Amino acid sequence: MEVLFDLRPKDTKSDLFDREIELSKVIEYVGRLGLPITLVLGFRRVGKSSLILVAIRELGLPSIYIDLRKFEERQYLSYRDFVLELQREVNNLTSRFPGLIDFLRNISGVSIMGNQVLFSWKGSGRVSLASLLDALNDWASNGVVIVFDEAQELVKARGGFNVLPVLAYAYDNLRRIRFIVSGSKMGLLYRFLRIRDPESPLFGRAMGVVELSPFTRDQAVEFLRRVSRSWVLSLGILMLCMRGLAASQVGSRTLALGTMNIGT
Ligand SMILES: Nc1ncnc2c1ncn2[C@@H]1O[C@H](COP(=O)(O)OP(=O)(O)O)[C@@H](O)[C@H]1O
Ligand SMILES: [Mg+2]
Repeated sequence: MEVLFDLRPKDTKSDLFDREIELSKVIEYVGRLGLPITLVLGFRRVGKSSLILVAIRELGLPSIYIDLRKFEERQYLSYRDFVLELQREVNNLTSRFPGLIDFLRNISGVSIMGNQVLFSWKGSGRVSLASLLDALNDWASNGVVIVFDEAQELVKARGGFNVLPVLAYAYDNLRRIRFIVSGSKMGLLYRFLRIRDPESPLFGRAMGVVELSPFTRDQAVEFLRRVSRSWVLSLGILMLCMRGLAASQVGSRTLALGTMNIGT
């Protein structure tokens, strides 16, 4: 059954309506060309996260997905906030790829407790992002994707923490690390990246750019047509379920037949 009307971002190609061109661009930039940074731009709810999740799945590369949207309401973002988010995602990755732990254990500011990886965020003992990226680069044989979703929130970073120099370091030195940076507030995102500012660590670096436009009227109509079809299907299944339930009052044999109907 189609799940087009689910409110969460989609993560499988069959659930993604249209966007073939944008999807093939992301796959080309991140996968075939191996660009260090690919930007995915577009208004809120236009489908950026869905596109990124589907692209990662299609690429089949390990990934770290930092969702910065949760800091939207905050006045500033501390190193602790960022590092704890990263820690959670790195633990997701190590549970899928336990071999990664061996690449992380000798980094200062990293401790391993059983199969949990812990990052220190306090004072001078805090883990360095560049060392973490070095380790990921050494570990990933075919590449690893790091997503900063709604990256304009990183403008709020405070407390001597700035992601830009680390992005620039990885851009210049770590061939296997590929960033996907998304933003819905483009002005703010470009203000954060400062690509045209000669003082910025990222000055002059070329990046892949994929822009998502809102659907045209025809696309929207087609989308709704498909959604309504999936709703009709859901309704059909619901009615079959109810028929089965009603039949159960009569006898368990009829319920079994009703249930069989649902699956066919
Ligand atoms: N191409 C698409 N096909 C199906 N559903 C989509 C598509 N684009 C967006 N959506 C749906 O719209 C909503 C917003 O998408 P999302 O990927 O979260 O957008 P963004 O990250 O740009 O805010 C989600 O419910 C998502 O499932
Ligand atoms: Mg999103």
